[in-house]
Amino acid sequence: MANATSDILTRCSDRSLSSLAQGLIGSEVLKIAGEVRAYASSGRSVANLTVGDFAPTEFRIPRALEAQIVANLAAGQTNYPPSDGTLELRRAVLAFFQESFGLEYPLESTLIAGGSRPIIFAAYAAVVDRGDAVIYPTPSWNNNHYTYLSGGRPIELKVGAETNFMPTAAMIRPHVREAALLAVCTPLNPTGTVMNRGEVEAIATLAVEENERRATTGQRPLFILWDQVYWMLTFGENRHWTPPQVVPEAAAYTIFVDGISKALAATGLRVGWTVAPPAVTARMRDIIGHVGAWSPKAEQLAVATFLGQKDEIASYHETMIRELRLRLDTLYDGLMEMRREGLPVNAIAPQGAIYLSAQFNLIDRFGTNEAIRRFLLEQAGFAVVPFQAFGTKEEDGWFRLSAGAVSVRDCEEGLVRVRAAIAGLA
Ligand SMILES: Cc1ncc(COP(=O)(O)O)c(C=O)c1O
Repeated sequence: MANATSDILTRCSDRSLSSLAQGLIGSEVLKIAGEVRAYASSGRSVANLTVGDFAPTEFRIPRALEAQIVANLAAGQTNYPPSDGTLELRRAVLAFFQESFGLEYPLESTLIAGGSRPIIFAAYAAVVDRGDAVIYPTPSWNNNHYTYLSGGRPIELKVGAETNFMPTAAMIRPHVREAALLAVCTPLNPTGTVMNRGEVEAIATLAVEENERRATTGQRPLFILWDQVYWMLTFGENRHWTPPQVVPEAAAYTIFVDGISKALAATGLRVGWTVAPPAVTARMRDIIGHVGAWSPKAEQLAVATFLGQKDEIASYHETMIRELRLRLDTLYDGLMEMRREGLPVNAIAPQGAIYLSAQFNLIDRFGTNEAIRRFLLEQAGFAVVPFQAFGTKEEDGWFRLSAGAVSVRDCEEGLVRVRAAIAGLA
């Protein structure tokens, strides 16, 4: 019977689907991560630096948050949440914004969702019409996919080490008149770099001036999607800035993407939020409502309590950032040591998020980043993701190394194997 059903089911194939579905590209990172898992299950040592996630054995969610979730579940907080999120969490998010950035927003500005992805999807759907131009840097995380899903026209800005892998106002300016959305992420996935205050100000000023011009033409405004899901993981000399902090008028066009997935090592809890102009938030709420991509109520209530516990948050981040930096610095120092030995590798000093940008300049030998990736995995048990998975087109040897699911020892042992493998090529 099962076989007969299987035969019948083959009559439906990818070609049966909508052109939107047929044209969609799945997550390249998850594909690579699956391949790495299969490699590791064959018993070989591997430093898995692929997924932008945390191993709970290395990074746990805060105990106080965990206890609150359990208490709220036990108290029966298991029904539908309000479609824009619980009042407790919306108020807590706004108080947190005020404390962290000195920005005051009305209650109608904020909306809670089941992680930051629904927030991004809803923001694109709310402001991008078919054919509208969307500006974003490459590499950057998933803007190519969200632009595709919304029917937008991509304007990709290739960014490199010379601008700290960040887009600049000068790069954006030639395209600003035609765009409906500018997507910025800082600290940036995949590079682990942070946009400085001067560039935030220049970009915010550019958007405000463009929107003042549009106010007289009837053209819809240019919105800025400000994805700051890693902002609490900014470290060293670096500081996180937002457009409305440096150019207050930018608040009318800034759509924040934020949440706990990365900041509290809580990728599986699914709590994200936006803060945006109320007119945008209201439509994002309706879009998310139709998908039902709400955040579970017990978790919303727990996060609301946790966001009010300043000391708990500070001590959690002190430990988390120390542990992250141990891993990122180990990787960075190890690669720079190889560079000093004359091996063709390079890296950008870590500034934020859970990532390190590393270059394995073996293109002359292997031809493509994909071939270098396979070499590092198969010869060194060192699993990394090429920037191509983030929209980069050039074969330039740059890769993302993600530090959330490895121990310091995994990094050290992986580096020893990488050094031997690359030195062996000579
Ligand atoms: C820059 C950025 N924004 C948003 C997200 C989505 O986060 P969430 O797990 O909350 O959907 C990710 C996840 O990797 C990310 O890297």
